[in-house]
Amino acid sequence: MEITKTQNSRLSSVDFDNLEFGRKFSDHMIDVTFKNGSWQEPQITPYAPISFHPSMHALHYGQAVFEGMKAYYVDDETINLFRLDDHHERISNSSERMCIPSMEKEIFIDTLEALIRLDHKWVPKTKGHALYIRPFVFASEEYIAARAAKEYRYMVITSPVAAYYKEGFNPVSLTTTDNYVRAVKGGTGEAKAAGNYGGSFLPAQKAQAEGYTQVLWLDAKENKYVEEVGTMNIFFKINGKLVTPELGGTVLPGITRRSVIAQAKAWDVDVEERRISIDEVFDAHKDGSLEEIFGSGTAAVISPVGLIHHKGDTIELDRDNIGPFAKKMYDTITGIQYGELNDPFNWVHPVKVG
Ligand code: COI
Repeated sequence: MEITKTQNSRLSSVDFDNLEFGRKFSDHMIDVTFKNGSWQEPQITPYAPISFHPSMHALHYGQAVFEGMKAYYVDDETINLFRLDDHHERISNSSERMCIPSMEKEIFIDTLEALIRLDHKWVPKTKGHALYIRPFVFASEEYIAARAAKEYRYMVITSPVAAYYKEGFNPVSLTTTDNYVRAVKGGTGEAKAAGNYGGSFLPAQKAQAEGYTQVLWLDAKENKYVEEVGTMNIFFKINGKLVTPELGGTVLPGITRRSVIAQAKAWDVDVEERRISIDEVFDAHKDGSLEEIFGSGTAAVISPVGLIHHKGDTIELDRDNIGPFAKKMYDTITGIQYGELNDPFNWVHPVKVG
């Protein structure tokens, strides 16, 4: 790999006490080109604008996928990455669905380690804050025929972040929608494809105009079964059990979701991955068996849900307090990520930077 270091670090311009999600970017980025049928030598270069032709394929047909990961400060010598194999597997699956060549795992990991070593001072030291890592791949060919491109760019940029939602760790509010769907079976819903997010912004904006944080997506066929939130997966604690929608092709296979399930099972909590209707959630609230609702995601971590609106009805949980299970899950998963707790699952990938 070829590394070109910046001569002008922008680190001193960052106010680490007032981080906004995804607004500031660290000094370096990864840039790998795919052409002539293979990935070329990886480059790490100063973070800078890139140039492309107006005919660049991805701009026209949205052949683009991405990942979301985080780097966690442990001490001045160690930065932890999390579940790298799973993130690599997911970007490979997303790429396959979008007809994009997969990035080799060794390059994925080696370039990430090199980037983190170079920009480790950008990893915030405050617990709960992290360096968000955004790998993405897009069709870079100068060609507008509607077929899969033959040239791509894989890039990784990073951004020091605090909580994703403006609510912080306070409960967020969700609403279902009658007018829009996020994903259908056979579509691209389980891929982290750029267009899935682009298509969700209008409904999200409408939900926000009505005072909700995000849309709670229901299935596209019957508008009945809960799927996900678009920026996170969702969990319901009902009668002591943890229930989450099964994946089934329309739900993003969240890495934090997978971690929550593994951790809950390790605590001997029953976990059900199955279809759950929005009516079942409302009924469980009515009969008092709905204990907690929370979302999970890399950006969202564990985000408690305090309110769900559906067709004029609203369920409200304790909106001032975080449920004890969500809190314990947050403390445990972040404890593992920040190297404060043992890592029985071998999730953490430490990078020595000192
Ligand atoms: C993540 O959690 O990393 C995501 O990709 C969600 C995002 C749209 C901010």
